Amino acid sequence: NEYFDDNRPLAGKKALVTAGPTYEAIDPVRFIGNHSSGKMGYALAAELLQLGADVTLVSGPTHLVPPAGAAHIAVTSAGEMLDACLALFPQTTITIMSAAVADYTPKTVADKKIKKGEEEGLTIELTKTADILATLGQRKQNEQVLVGFALETHDEQAHAVDKLHRKNLDFIVLNTIRDEGAGFAGDTNKITIIDRNGSVEAFDLKPKRDVARDICSRIIQLLEP
Ligand code: CTP
Ligand code: CA
Repeated sequence: NEYFDDNRPLAGKKALVTAGPTYEAIDPVRFIGNHSSGKMGYALAAELLQLGADVTLVSGPTHLVPPAGAAHIAVTSAGEMLDACLALFPQTTITIMSAAVADYTPKTVADKKIKKGEEEGLTIELTKTADILATLGQRKQNEQVLVGFALETHDEQAHAVDKLHRKNLDFIVLNTIRDEGAGFAGDTNKITIIDRNGSVEAFDLKPKRDVARDICSRIIQLLEP
């Protein structure tokens, strides 16, 4: 098989990777964020580049340097990430949504810094963000591969399978956060890949770049004629 011998099996294919957290503004100096480091998404972008793909990395705020050769679009909020993804998606063959997108955003952003008041409490009203992955899933065409991540603390597989179908994904990468060394900040990760046929493949704890290789191998399999 010629395809297998090629060490750039994704040459000519456009890939979109999202990475990092989103920051949802409360006022000019404050936001709601999360602890995503962006490392998994940046590792995926680097691996896709090595496999020959034409990579765009849409990234929330991180401390990482984008891999050389990737187009980099810096975004802050979930709304900005949605707009960037919607613009790129129609031209994209491979989309991997590894960003930790905020589920809620403040209903209004104060235009001045919120002053400490006399009251003991402060309530900030939140509203749901758009589900970027589900929106892309609705627009997905046959030749497109769409991959999501799931972070769960209980009933992991059931929740991941539900997201896989609800968001119309080709497969979902379940992040195991119970095990030491896996998850947000570290350099290693432990994943399980669940696909539409119900196949469940659990991988060992390994460096994020090797995790990226496992995910990309699955994508290459899906794209094979
Ligand atoms: N995701 C997204 N847009 C959102 C929220 C999540 O695109 N507004 C994507 C994430 O990037 C991830 C997948 O959806 O690839 C699953 O995210 P996760 O937070 O695990 O699931 P949710 O559907 O947000 O459900 P919950 O947080 O309640 O588990
Ligand atoms: Ca969520």
